[in-house]
Amino acid sequence: MERLDKILVSQGIAGRKEARELIKKGEVRVNGEIIKKPEYKVQPEDCSITVKGQNLSYSKNIYIMLNKPAGVVSATKDNVDRTVIDILPEEYKRKGLFPAGRLDKDTEGLLIITDDGDFAHKILSPKKHVKKKYIAQLDKEINADVINKFENGIIFADGTKCMPAKLEIIPDTQNKKGLVTICEGKFHQVKKMFISCGLNVVHLKRISIGNLYLDSKLPIGCCKLMSKLDIESIFIGNIH
Ligand code: URA
Repeated sequence: MERLDKILVSQGIAGRKEARELIKKGEVRVNGEIIKKPEYKVQPEDCSITVKGQNLSYSKNIYIMLNKPAGVVSATKDNVDRTVIDILPEEYKRKGLFPAGRLDKDTEGLLIITDDGDFAHKILSPKKHVKKKYIAQLDKEINADVINKFENGIIFADGTKCMPAKLEIIPDTQNKKGLVTICEGKFHQVKKMFISCGLNVVHLKRISIGNLYLDSKLPIGCCKLMSKLDIESIFIGNIH
């Protein structure tokens, strides 16, 4: 059983204060009956909830889009650094949350935080071929040779072979900024791929996972609940 105001917050309908106000104003019904107590407890899977007459389609799991800032680690707990879970607003925190994938401490951009293990597996497994796009700022110019090496599949110094990757030069950056598309997630992969070609990444930002792009209006360090459409868009056009 869960409090009605908490359900509205967890489903992205409203913030904590706004949810309480909506309920007190009589805008929320449970099985057709107006409930004016925010603390009223229901089993959300087993009842129909409407807000201002609109049906709330309840999702058991939570999916959060975070614009990860540099300086926090992609872990659930850490003895030294703040984690991506530590920086979430209190209303989104719940048991079982973890980052679906890892960005380095100094990498920024799109990170999904969820409590849905099957979903995380679907976007992380190299077998599923979900594309991830990164913008990399480099210390030297990208040339055709580097682009070819990415296309042919980079081999790291320890013999690890990467799948073919796409590298496009971003115009008006003196050839020092590239858009990288990979469909796997080896440790420090993008940085190591450039190092194999003699270039160093000085700034890295992930901008997409599948067809889901980082919301350009989401400031660094902020997050938002993902809609069903956001979740589905990850897999659109993915053939595996
Ligand atoms: N590749 C990297 O090198 N670092 C990241 O954080 C993500 C991809």
